[in-house]
Amino acid sequence: MKIAMLTSGGDCQGLNATMRGVAKTLYNELGDVTIYGILDGYKGLIEGNYKKLKKEDFSGILTLGGTILGTSRQPFKKMRVIEENGVDKVKAMKETYKKLDLDCLVILGGNGTHKTANLLSEEGLNIVTLPKTIDNDLWGTDVTFGFHSAIDVATDVIDKIHTTATSHGRIFVIEIMGHKAGWLTLYSGIAGGADIILIPEIPYDINKIKDEIEKRTADNKGFSIIAVAEGAISVEESKMSKKEFKAARENMKQSSIAYRVADEIMEITNHEVRVAVPGHVQRGGAPNPYDRVLCTRFGSFAAELIKDKKYGNMVGLKNGVTVAVPLSEVAGKLKNVPADDQAVVAARRVGISFGD
Ligand code: F6P
Repeated sequence: MKIAMLTSGGDCQGLNATMRGVAKTLYNELGDVTIYGILDGYKGLIEGNYKKLKKEDFSGILTLGGTILGTSRQPFKKMRVIEENGVDKVKAMKETYKKLDLDCLVILGGNGTHKTANLLSEEGLNIVTLPKTIDNDLWGTDVTFGFHSAIDVATDVIDKIHTTATSHGRIFVIEIMGHKAGWLTLYSGIAGGADIILIPEIPYDINKIKDEIEKRTADNKGFSIIAVAEGAISVEESKMSKKEFKAARENMKQSSIAYRVADEIMEITNHEVRVAVPGHVQRGGAPNPYDRVLCTRFGSFAAELIKDKKYGNMVGLKNGVTVAVPLSEVAGKLKNVPADDQAVVAARRVGISFGD
């Protein structure tokens, strides 16, 4: 059997652990398997840039952050656009697949990656995918790998800010990644004991944030921690068309949501506000134990799908069980935080404000 693997889109913790899970299962159960690594995501597939991997390449990488194959962002909407130099990207990807005489291409990626994976599957290639992203916004799985490791990092940031915010009696706004979904902010916000959590799914009203801060001050709590998702929007913004929203954001003084919220709070209160933006730290370093186990389960399940020729599927986790989810169902759908998510409900019950 011949397979190739590629990692695409933003990296996260657990990419190597997942590839190890696929490879070790195939080596152990089939013995005779050839594995190629496609370098730098779809770019390598287009350009025919790959290397033959050996069994040893998958040793010692369970805890290694990043990806041993490299990654890149190749926007789906440009996949069918012919390049100025005449390169037909879809044709080129199919040619690399054929040249390597593959039985299956294993793709690790998030939302954008899955749209292209589905395209390749529709073009007749045998594809199996794995759900990667710290954003946890992939449809068809309860959890993506990388998410729980990123929660650890973001929670650690909030914990550390907590001590200095308490000492100084300051308001801190901490910006958490997550693209257009609030999962990472919701979970790290709850875990870090944030007082206010702002997520894209629940538009915020700055006056409600002010009320919450004043209430805490009246209760002799001189500091407040606000965890804001990078994709959070205000109530006014939620009513705008896409075009209006884009224009409004382009005209803003601050490009970062955390600084904008901080400015707004300083304008309407007398409080001193500081901002912390951990950024890509959230995607870096080793996967945590939860992810190491999840990646091993995902990877070995992917290997079973390959052995059984169950192509055209993403590996997911549903109610604690690994499942195969058809790529056609996954592609193009986002998994956002439902307003009645149990974590949101519990957070509200313990007094966390969502600024609404
Ligand atoms: O999808 C993962 C993610 O880290 C998002 O949370 C964030 O919006 C985005 O990638 C950042 O992208 P880049 O690494 O291209 O700056």
